[in-house]
Amino acid sequence: MTDPIPVYLDCDTGVDDAVALAYLLRSPHVDVVGIGTVSGNTSAAQAARNTLDLLGLAGVDSIPVAIGAHHHSSHEYAGGAAHVHGDNGIGGVELPRSAREPEDVTAVELLIDLSHRYEGRLHLVTIGPLTNIIEALAADPTLPTRIAGVATMGGAASVPGNITPVAEANIFNDPAAADALLTAEWDVTLVPLDATMEHTLSEDDRVTLAEASDPLLRAVGAMLDHYFEFYLPTYGVRTSALHDPLAAVIAAGGTTITRGPRVPVRVDTTHGPGRGQTIADLRGQRLGDRDHPEARTRVVLEVDGSISAHLMEVLTGERP
Ligand code: BDR
Ligand code: CA
Repeated sequence: MTDPIPVYLDCDTGVDDAVALAYLLRSPHVDVVGIGTVSGNTSAAQAARNTLDLLGLAGVDSIPVAIGAHHHSSHEYAGGAAHVHGDNGIGGVELPRSAREPEDVTAVELLIDLSHRYEGRLHLVTIGPLTNIIEALAADPTLPTRIAGVATMGGAASVPGNITPVAEANIFNDPAAADALLTAEWDVTLVPLDATMEHTLSEDDRVTLAEASDPLLRAVGAMLDHYFEFYLPTYGVRTSALHDPLAAVIAAGGTTITRGPRVPVRVDTTHGPGRGQTIADLRGQRLGDRDHPEARTRVVLEVDGSISAHLMEVLTGERP
């Protein structure tokens, strides 16, 4: 087996972020070497608390967690998404408080430090608004030269948004930051709603997690209860989309991308009805994927197989 890839995770630890984190911690193909938080589903500070407490449940005390941006680049943090992720971001579940505290450095400082320590090998996985990333690019414009690749959950290429008719939440929360990420000189794998809405977790899977003996899985199963209620009107059954987990699975090489053209992608940063829209140039794809010669962003439209089955296998260590 090849060596695990070092990953810096940037997150707004919410319910599906927690599932993604649990997966990354359990994947033999990934070594999470640092975590930065950002306001989104909840505040950056609460996201760091949630992350440290989840790491505590996992028995992991070696991964540094740094608080990142509280406010976004063009507007102030508006209070999160309690109706989706609960008051504390993790479905109202009270986790045992870990004795660990966030690092004394910011998420941006942690990311830049790790990019030197793992130069040319560090992968970024972003599953929240991209404010820390635009700040890191401003602080050190050479950052992309040291990054092996970026996997980003966000956007909607040819399907509706989930926060406005055209915008997905992570991008809408900081459109300028998303545009900076998508136009920087690095390879981005963008994992938009086109793919994530097609992969869901079943109530049976959730119960398996909630009834596991492993405290991390029990906590994740409990917090998914709240998330499933949110998705009931969308899917007509208790379930949830696997947004952040799909980005994590792709970063870990846990699935094959079956449709994912490399095309230019820009973000609408205006303040009109298109704000936060990811404008992916999918013209010319009718006869199959055609990569644009200069594009460095791969837009994931379809992946192979059952992501929920793979996720459950890695989380529980049991084959379905
Ligand atoms: C994204 O928004 C957040 O609510 C989720 O954690 C995910 O990162 C989905 O649009
Ligand atoms: Ca998230």
